[in-house]
Amino acid sequence: MVARKLELRRCYGETAWIYDQRYEEIQRGKYSLIFPILPHVDRILDLGCGSGLFLGALAKRGRLIVGADSSPEMLEIAKRRPTRAALLLADADHLPFADQSFDVIVSVTLLQNMPNPEITVREAARVMKLGGIMALTVLKRKHSPEELEEWVRGAGLEPLEVVEEGEDVCCIARR
Ligand SMILES: C[S@@+](CC[C@H](N)C(=O)[O-])C[C@H]1O[C@@H](n2cnc3c(N)ncnc32)[C@H](O)[C@@H]1O
Repeated sequence: MVARKLELRRCYGETAWIYDQRYEEIQRGKYSLIFPILPHVDRILDLGCGSGLFLGALAKRGRLIVGADSSPEMLEIAKRRPTRAALLLADADHLPFADQSFDVIVSVTLLQNMPNPEITVREAARVMKLGGIMALTVLKRKHSPEELEEWVRGAGLEPLEVVEEGEDVCCIARR
């Protein structure tokens, strides 16, 4: 588990410089699907925020925005954006936050990287407030809508919507 995470961290580190060039358009499309359903809240976490493509938009929905990612190189790129988000180096399976810290959690194309996504969703649910909203996407060539829904239910969340869109499955859930 640790070896896989370290290997991924190395891969994202080596390719961080070219991430936006390769993926900005497609990733912005994913975020723009999620954005309209996000309520105006106090605290938002972008889990696996990568180069920070969504942090600017999230700032229109929350007072405190936190972007967490395990790649220092991706976070370096995020830091260069004109964002007021707090950026944090962290493993999504071990978040350095108290229970019920966030009103909204978004996580776009992170879960297929995780050795056990069920654990990751459970950890995200732990730091989300009761009544909070979580928006998750995962690559559908790696995981099915049924799997995503199962992780969400296993974490004690109520799936409100599970849709396939482009290369992803997206789930909106409430705690
Ligand atoms: C495909 S990128 C998506 C980045 C961003 N959400 C976006 O849509 O542009 C996946 C991100 O997950 C991060 N990641 C991978 N494993 C992680 C872990 N264990 N904890 C936190 N972040 C992780 C990577 O560093 C990378 O930035």
